Amino acid sequence: MLRIVVCVSGGGTNLQAIIDGIKAGTITNTEIVGVISNNPGVKSLERAAAAQIPAFVIRPRDFAEREEFHKAFLDRLAELSPDLIVLAGFLVKIPEEMVSRYPGRIINIHPSLIPSFCGTGYYGLKVHEKALERGVKVTGATVHFVNEGMDEGPIISQKAVQVLEGDTPEILQKRVMEEAEWVLLPQAIDDIANGRVCMENGRSVRKV
Ligand code: GAR
Repeated sequence: MLRIVVCVSGGGTNLQAIIDGIKAGTITNTEIVGVISNNPGVKSLERAAAAQIPAFVIRPRDFAEREEFHKAFLDRLAELSPDLIVLAGFLVKIPEEMVSRYPGRIINIHPSLIPSFCGTGYYGLKVHEKALERGVKVTGATVHFVNEGMDEGPIISQKAVQVLEGDTPEILQKRVMEEAEWVLLPQAIDDIANGRVCMENGRSVRKV
């Protein structure tokens, strides 16, 4: 059984897709052992509670120093002893130490086709605003292993989504979630849980 911890910041629709996937049996060999949010009062926490998953709020502003926040976050993770950490709309920069502690065991979902519209300042709705500003006709989502860089880790999977005439950032975000994110992330977790995907020598490898 792959023990996963899901880190969230807001709505938690990707968290919900994972919960639903486990329930429906499209994600197998997987158990969510905890949800960590950096924000109190978000819908993600309601989703965790409804699924009876232990949830924890660790909020940067409750700590005088960033280091202390990082320590509390890493300590909580260690207590949960995950095999895989899933950043599902977690909009906080993770501590550098986390990458060395969990090599090849952290994945992230990003709402664009990396390397477009990613890196510092590209998160949530902003990604779709920038894509529309640039006038791209195709966007999408990417699941990748997390390394020291921002959205720079080895890519596991990507799915393209059409941009349509009249799209607003909100409409585009919803289409990218429905057509790409909620498909890719559960699939990647199932692949990792069943040994079909792993990180080797800094690359994402698919075993057939
Ligand atoms: C999702 O679109 C996710 O891809 C994005 O935040 C949203 C969270 O939605 N993540 C990033 O932008 C990471 N750089 P959710 O809380 O409903 O899953």
